[in-house]
Amino acid sequence: MGLLSRKVCLVTGAGQGLGRSISLEMAREGAEVVLLERNATSLSSVSAEIEALDHKAHPYLLDVTDYARYESIIGEVIAKLGRIDVLVNNAAINPATRTILNDTLEEWRQSIAINLEAVYMGSKLVAPQMVKQQSGRIIHVASIQGFAASGDCGSYNAAKGGIIAYTKSMAVELGRYNILVNAVAPGFMATPMSIVNGVEEATTPDFLEWYVGRRKIPLGRTGYPEDVSGSVIFLASDYCRYMTGQLLVIDGGLMSTF
Ligand SMILES: NC(=O)c1ccc[n+]([C@@H]2O[C@H](COP(=O)([O-])OP(=O)(O)OC[C@H]3O[C@@H](n4cnc5c(N)ncnc54)[C@H](O)[C@@H]3O)[C@@H](O)[C@H]2O)c1
Repeated sequence: MGLLSRKVCLVTGAGQGLGRSISLEMAREGAEVVLLERNATSLSSVSAEIEALDHKAHPYLLDVTDYARYESIIGEVIAKLGRIDVLVNNAAINPATRTILNDTLEEWRQSIAINLEAVYMGSKLVAPQMVKQQSGRIIHVASIQGFAASGDCGSYNAAKGGIIAYTKSMAVELGRYNILVNAVAPGFMATPMSIVNGVEEATTPDFLEWYVGRRKIPLGRTGYPEDVSGSVIFLASDYCRYMTGQLLVIDGGLMSTF
């Protein structure tokens, strides 16, 4: 018996990085994992990894901004698996150099559509089923960039800050239905998102000098997907039952320094 035994857990952006790690960990904990991902190759590869653990995977090719398809997938999942216990809103993009001086309204809208609006829509699509069940967990993957900025990804900052505020609003609204809504805010993470121009940001001389050498990150290293997935498992599990509207910061201590 795992911590998520037989729970139906949906993960967006499940094909790589944090989404992949969260999905695998959920499968190990006994969940029926529904993988939602827009990249067909990574989707089938994570699906195969889950099957290799002797668990059944439920992969769906989905761009989370395609709301008609998102809605029909949610209907199919309910018809097939009978319920939805957990939604992890993880999919996001963080294209470099989104600054107020250089980006375009089109780029701003594209970022907000994936990073914030699709979080609203995914939650809106699963909430009625969770209300019927009188139970559910919605977990948003925010970022420390929701309350601290690097100065070069404004729309991403705005979206993540929006998610943090929206976590509270949803928790207050949905608490009466026993739906718990929480968020995690990772700091630096070694995932494909953090590779800029072919270079993993945690390997640059600046990162090694400032964040590791000078211990700007007190734990002295970048984070890895496995550093986050355990916290998501906790938020999805029955061990988390009197906590809602909260943000778990998983940054190696970065936000505690000055
Ligand atoms: N990497 C970091 O340093 C870092 C730090 C803090 C927070 N985060 C957050 O963690 C989450 C996961 O990030 P990651 O680092 O694993 O990123 P990643 O780029 O490695 O993975 C993101 C996944 O989401 C998928 N995706 C993107 N847009 C999609 C869409 N429209 N529809 C469906 N799938 C889509 C991608 O195909 C990919 O598989 C994101 O919410 C990100 O903002 C990452």
